[in-house]
Amino acid sequence: MKVSIIGAGGLVGSCAAFALQCGGKVRELALLDVNENLAAGQALDLWHGSPSVADQKIVSGSYDQIPSSDIICITAGLRRKPEESRLDLINRNTDLFVQILTQVKSAGLKPTAIVLVVSNPVDILTYVAAQRLGLPANQVIGLGTQLDTIRFCSLIADHLQSPPTQTRALILGEHGDSMVPIWSSATVGGLPLEKFEKWNHNVGAQIFTRTKGSGAEVISKKGGAGFAVGIAIRDVIESIALDQRRILPVSSVQAGCYGIRDVSLSVPTVVGRTGVIERYELELWPKELQGLRASAAALRPTQDAVMKRVGAM
Ligand code: 2OP
Repeated sequence: MKVSIIGAGGLVGSCAAFALQCGGKVRELALLDVNENLAAGQALDLWHGSPSVADQKIVSGSYDQIPSSDIICITAGLRRKPEESRLDLINRNTDLFVQILTQVKSAGLKPTAIVLVVSNPVDILTYVAAQRLGLPANQVIGLGTQLDTIRFCSLIADHLQSPPTQTRALILGEHGDSMVPIWSSATVGGLPLEKFEKWNHNVGAQIFTRTKGSGAEVISKKGGAGFAVGIAIRDVIESIALDQRRILPVSSVQAGCYGIRDVSLSVPTVVGRTGVIERYELELWPKELQGLRASAAALRPTQDAVMKRVGAM
């Protein structure tokens, strides 16, 4: 399985490449970036570590890598300022993103290629990619709230002093201000959170608030996320590469799940070699379902404005 990462010179793309190298499950990594020398430096630095981790082919290159790629991960884009919302980025990132889509499409895609969008605002740009790439909609996925979900689990685990790998709590909807915490199915080791003495709803509210602000918090401390978003990207790419069919909160253009259509956001999604295999309507509390639908409504005006501006190919 060959993965090309566009924007691999940057923090997100290079951390994704490192996470995939450490995972050792994909056969080839191609690092693409407008700064070709930087991409070459990232590839060389990764290659130096390969004797101790995995027998993979690691190259840097340009769009000539796309026709032989099974998965194309697009991380390129400007980072937001801490006080900016991800939706605020839309004007600055859309033109760049559409240029990338045009180059990807003209380079030629395998009919079975899967495109994973990471660039923000990821839900809007996932919708744009689905309209413009000419791939079946199930082959265009956005990282969505997978990153928010693992952040959410990490903060719950920190408070409860529970094993992060056994802490399960979903974030659904927009990877942005309208994201929705799903407490109804949150567990640690299969136990509901209420079983834990240190748990109460106030703590839960504080943890969700911090989760929602985690992107800005990391930007303010270190300029931008890298390690966790790289892990989230690996979660999705390995589920595709190995046809793991993991149920992940990733963004895709909805076709009726929870009554939501024609907007890209995150719902529980079976992710395998063909991309989106199925979506599940997890039983939600009424306020969670309301929040998810509000998230769709929050995204639609920007999505409509962007599509009016860029149009389908
Ligand atoms: C974040 O939340 C990059 O949007 C990503 O950090």
